[in-house]
Amino acid sequence: MRASIITTTLALAATQVTAQYTNQSAPFNLVLYSHNSTYDGQTLAACHEGAAIEGLCLDGPLTSTSVQYTFNTSSDLSSDPVLGTPGSLNYELRGGNFNLSSPLSIPVNPISNVAVPLFEPSESGANVGFDTSDKLFVWGYTDDTVSPPVYKSQGFYRWYVCLTNAGYTYTTLAWVVGPHSPENPSCVKVDVKRVFV
Ligand SMILES: *[C@@H]1O[C@H](CO)[C@@H](O)[C@H](O)[C@H]1NC(C)=O
Ligand SMILES: *[C@@H]1O[C@H](CO)[C@@H](O)[C@H](O)[C@H]1NC(C)=O
Ligand SMILES: *[C@@H]1O[C@H](CO)[C@@H](O)[C@H](O)[C@H]1NC(C)=O
Ligand SMILES: *[C@@H]1O[C@H](CO)[C@@H](O)[C@H](O)[C@H]1NC(C)=O
Repeated sequence: MRASIITTTLALAATQVTAQYTNQSAPFNLVLYSHNSTYDGQTLAACHEGAAIEGLCLDGPLTSTSVQYTFNTSSDLSSDPVLGTPGSLNYELRGGNFNLSSPLSIPVNPISNVAVPLFEPSESGANVGFDTSDKLFVWGYTDDTVSPPVYKSQGFYRWYVCLTNAGYTYTTLAWVVGPHSPENPSCVKVDVKRVFV
């Protein structure tokens, strides 16, 4: 049993590197849910942070022109009975003569526990999923809160909205690294839900 779990996890880890995430979902909008009424019901729009790099900024209530995203999975990846299939959250950058699907990554800042999720042109991004309530989560594959670390598939929901600077100072979606409170005092806890167009 233990060996088979490890084998499956290693197979998953290996496919994460090579899997092509080409099975694309229908388009959806991203809407915030929060106990804080300033942020509850706000949609997320891609906002410029650098050349072909976008963060996720607040964009008012849901309308027919709210920014659309997709979720790509791979038929090479096995599905978890609870968490579903891991995949990438994508934004399509529209250029003058090109369209480029960019996955969301979560680059960690080594000196802060607040990371700014970014869409960047890449073959692969962060492994995320949507639960049965359509809430966005990040996949964890190992648990190092026990020693030695163990393999464990879990969904994490450490989303916040904070005043960040990943190129520009904006109020953006943020991710808190680890289980503690964000060190950035502006952060407010949110959940992110997809609403199909
Ligand atoms: C998502 O899938 C579509 C359809 O296969 C593909 O065109 C697009 O490049 C993929 N996006 C990413 C970020 O892998
Ligand atoms: C909600 O968030 C805004 C913006 O960060 C903040 O000014 C306000 O105090 C928050 N409201 C509550 C009830 O925490
Ligand atoms: C591709 O995605 C669609 C809908 O999202 C799903 O019905 C289908 O089973 C997926 N196919 C594979 C090969 O994963
Ligand atoms: C980019 O996508 C939009 C919307 O689907 C389409 O209207 C446009 O022609 C595409 N542009 C290119 C260069 O493919």
